[in-house]
Amino acid sequence: MNFPTNLKNEPLKKWVEEVAVLCKPDQVEWCNGSEEEYNRMWDIMVANGTAVKLDEKKRPNSYYVRSDPKDVARVEGRTFICSINKDEAGPTNNWMDPMAMKGILNDLFDGSMRGRTMYVIPFSMGPVGSHISHIGVEITDSPYVVANMKIMTRMGAAVLDVLGANDHFVPCLHSVGMPLVDGQKDVPWPCNANKYIVHFPEERTIISYGSGYGGNALLGKKCLALRIASVMGKEEGWLAEHMLVLCVEDPKGRKTYVAAAFPSSCGKTNFAMLVPPKEMKGWKVTTIGDDIAWLKPGKDGRLYAINPEAGFFGVAPGTSMQSNPNSLLAVAKNSVFTNTGYTADGDVWWEGIGYEPTAKVTDWQGHEWTPDSGKVASHANARFTAPAHQCPSIDPDWENPNGVPISAFIFGGRRASVVPLIYESFSWDRGVYLAATVGSEMTAAAAGTIGKVRRDPFAMLPFCGYNMADYFDHWLSFGRTILHPPRIYGVNWFQKDEHGKFVWPGFGENMRVLKWIVERVHGEATALESPLGWIPRYEDLDWNGLDFSKEQYQKATAIHRHEWLQELESQHKEFSEFHTRLPRELTAIHEVLLGTLTRSPEVWQVE
Ligand code: OXD
Ligand code: MN
Repeated sequence: MNFPTNLKNEPLKKWVEEVAVLCKPDQVEWCNGSEEEYNRMWDIMVANGTAVKLDEKKRPNSYYVRSDPKDVARVEGRTFICSINKDEAGPTNNWMDPMAMKGILNDLFDGSMRGRTMYVIPFSMGPVGSHISHIGVEITDSPYVVANMKIMTRMGAAVLDVLGANDHFVPCLHSVGMPLVDGQKDVPWPCNANKYIVHFPEERTIISYGSGYGGNALLGKKCLALRIASVMGKEEGWLAEHMLVLCVEDPKGRKTYVAAAFPSSCGKTNFAMLVPPKEMKGWKVTTIGDDIAWLKPGKDGRLYAINPEAGFFGVAPGTSMQSNPNSLLAVAKNSVFTNTGYTADGDVWWEGIGYEPTAKVTDWQGHEWTPDSGKVASHANARFTAPAHQCPSIDPDWENPNGVPISAFIFGGRRASVVPLIYESFSWDRGVYLAATVGSEMTAAAAGTIGKVRRDPFAMLPFCGYNMADYFDHWLSFGRTILHPPRIYGVNWFQKDEHGKFVWPGFGENMRVLKWIVERVHGEATALESPLGWIPRYEDLDWNGLDFSKEQYQKATAIHRHEWLQELESQHKEFSEFHTRLPRELTAIHEVLLGTLTRSPEVWQVE
C-alpha cells in the first residue's frame, strides 16, 4: 500500500492494511483535507445522483442531499457499548460481549467495500496540536462522510504531521454496508437495513455499519467526542460533555464563559447563539461550540473547555431569522443540506424558515410538495452541515488551543411544571444531583401533575460510554480535585400555565437569567435561599425592555411542595436502576431534599 510521506505511525499503517484486506475495496485513498479533494467528493456524489449543487448565487459552494428514507437519524437501539464486563456499560446502554460482537462485525465487513473506494481520514477533535485535542482516523466507503468530516473536523495531512510514531489515535471504521458486486449499479444513498454503531471502550475503538447519516457515520462526533472520550475522561481526569459553550461579554468588556447541557429539542443551538434583547445595552453573547465540550483542569485551578468540533451539524426545521439569525447566516454558503426541501430555483427550504418558498418545492423524499399537501417538505431531523467560523456570533477564542475558562455550568430540560425558571445549587454535589435528574416531558403535563418524564442525566443518556452511575461518581470526585469548580445552575425555559401557554418568553430573553448567573459567579448578585437552591428575587433580574410582572415571575420561580414530593419519588425510581453502584452522595441529597420539601410551605415563592 502507498502511504502518505508524512505518516510515521506504524500501528496506523498496519490497521489500514488489515482493514483493506478485510473490506476488499477497489482502491484505497488517503484523504489530505484539500479543497480539491472536497470538490472531487462532491463531483462523485453529483455524478452518482446523491447530491445536487445549489444555485451559486443563492447558496455559494453548497450542496443538497436526500438520504434513504430509512436512514434519517441516529439509531440508539442499534448503538452498543461493548465493554468486557456488562456492568461497565451500565443499565442505560445496549451491551454485547465484545468477542461475540467482533464475530458479527467481521462477517459484515468482509467484502463490504467491494466496488467502492476506501477513504482514510485522519482527523483531530480540537485544534490540531492542542494538548486538549485527540486524534482519530476514520476509514469509510462514503464520499458523503469524507465531505462532511472536512466541515465537522480538522482533517487531512496536517493531522498526520502531529501524529507521532507511537501516538495513540482512535480507530473508527465505517461502512455503509452496500458492496457493489458483479457490476451492480450504485444507488444515490447506499445503506443497509442492518445497522450497528459499536464502541469498544477498553480498546477505544469504534465500528459503524449500515448507516450513512449524521452521528451514525461521522464518527468523530457522538461516537468519539462523547462515548469514547467520556471513558478517556474518566480514566484520565477530565470531562467530555454534551454541552454548548458560550461567552457573555458585559458592557465593560469582561468575558465570562459558560457551558450548558440540554436534552434534544430544548433550544440548545439557539442558546449557544443567543441574541440579547436590544434594551440590554452592551451585553453580548459569542459562541465557542453548539454541541460538545471537552473540559480539562488548568494549572491555575480553573476548568478549561474546548469545542472539539469545527462545524455545526444542526437541525434545520425551525431555524429562522427570528429564532436564530446566527445559525441561518452560518449556513449561507459552503454548507450541506440533508433531507430539507429543495426549491426549483436551486435553494433549500424548510418548515419554520420564516418565509414562503421562492419557487416550487420538492420534499425530502423527492416528491412534489405544496403548502396544502398536508405533509412536511423537510424531514423533522433534516440537517445542515456548516463551518463554525461562518457563524457571525463565533467567539474569537473558539479555536484557542488552551480552551476558555468555564465559570458556570447550566443544565435544563423541558418541563411544563415542577422545575423553576432558575436556581443555583448550594454546592457542587447538589449541582451534580440536579444534573443527574434532568429530564424532559414526553407529553405536556396537566397542571399539578407530572407528565411522563424521560430522564436524560446531564443530557448524556445516549452518549455516555460507560456506566452512568460511575459517570455521576466521576463528576462528584472531579469537583473535589479542582480549586475553582464552576457553579452549577438549573434552568427551565418551558413551564406552562393552566391554559397551556408558556410562562417564560424564552429565546433572547434568556439573557436576563444568563446575566444574573454571570453576576453571581463574580459575587455581584443577590438571591434568596429556597428549598432547592439560590433563586434570584424579582429585583435581581434586569427587566429593561420586557413587560414581565412580579406576579408572573413569582409563578415562574415557585416551588410547589406536592409536585416536588412526586418529583422526588420519580427521581428515586430513576436512581434505583443503578442499585448499589449509585454514589451515596446522591442518595443522601435525595434524603435531604425529602426532608426540606416535606417541611416547606405548600407553595414557596420569592417575596
Ligand atoms: C445531536 C443530538 O444530533 O444531540 O446533536 O442528537
Ligand atoms: Mn447533540
